[in-house]
Amino acid sequence: MSSNKNISDTIKRVIAKEELSDESDVREATAPYQAEFPYERDEEAQVTRREFCNFLGLTSAALFVGTAGFAAKAAFDARESLSPPVARIGGAETLAPNTSLNFSYPTERDSAILIRTADGAYHAYGQKCTHLSCPVYYSRDHQRLECPCHEGAFDAATGAVLYGPPPRALDAIEVEMRDGQVWAIGRTTSSPKDRG
Ligand code: FES
Repeated sequence: MSSNKNISDTIKRVIAKEELSDESDVREATAPYQAEFPYERDEEAQVTRREFCNFLGLTSAALFVGTAGFAAKAAFDARESLSPPVARIGGAETLAPNTSLNFSYPTERDSAILIRTADGAYHAYGQKCTHLSCPVYYSRDHQRLECPCHEGAFDAATGAVLYGPPPRALDAIEVEMRDGQVWAIGRTTSSPKDRG
């Protein structure tokens, strides 16, 4: 309350002092006001620097969060694309021993072949011959996979090359029984050392 009165008195004095003209007059008249409301230029600079630092900090945090978000999404997408699909092979459960069934895996464009060997076990492979990509078929007579293009042949139980020009085994598709149904759960690309 008293400070308001002092300010008011100061302002009245400044207005009433008609001879007020130069710096010393102004300083003298406003000295009490300055005492009531001190102004520190250095402190103002500090506040400005603090605000600037806060701004930089917030901006950096926002950039970090954004970058981390993109990185996390990229990692998630990469992991999704690396994990093989799990797909039921329709009709496999009624497949008779020593017969085969064509299906697609891991995508609709990838032809594959499921074989139920004479012992009742299931085996699946990519259908492309590893020589020049002709489709292989299952020979019931010989109980093996054969390629009609250059007389290559593969073991039905392992996919290994039995004879002919194929340089490596067929790509294997991992199958699993779930509640009486056959599921494809992964595919492995063979290498030349897997020729057989
Ligand atoms: S493409 Fe199969 S043996 Fe040549």
